[in-house]
Amino acid sequence: MNTPNTRTINLGSLDKIPLGQGRSFQVEDTQIAVFRQRDGKLFATQNACPHKQGPLAEGVAGGGKVICPLHSHKFDLATGQGSEPHECVKTYVVREAGGEILLQL
Ligand code: FES
Repeated sequence: MNTPNTRTINLGSLDKIPLGQGRSFQVEDTQIAVFRQRDGKLFATQNACPHKQGPLAEGVAGGGKVICPLHSHKFDLATGQGSEPHECVKTYVVREAGGEILLQL
């Protein structure tokens, strides 16, 4: 259920994201990375790495973490906490329903 300040956005079929990978989605003026772990869990974060704007959706994701493809900083997909001091990413609530990806903003 949405509160007055949240909206649910349908990003389309879950099949767009192969297991174990991420994809970026343009949502209004923000690039959001959605990850689909091999165990089926979904996570969503900002796509731009806070280090030097690397595309996190192209990183290696697993075990609840993503490794940035540019300089290998790691980010926790649930909390956004980074491996380097003072680096973290924004996380979003995402879930699957009826084979579709639903992102909460
Ligand atoms: S841009 Fe992500 S670690 Fe450097």
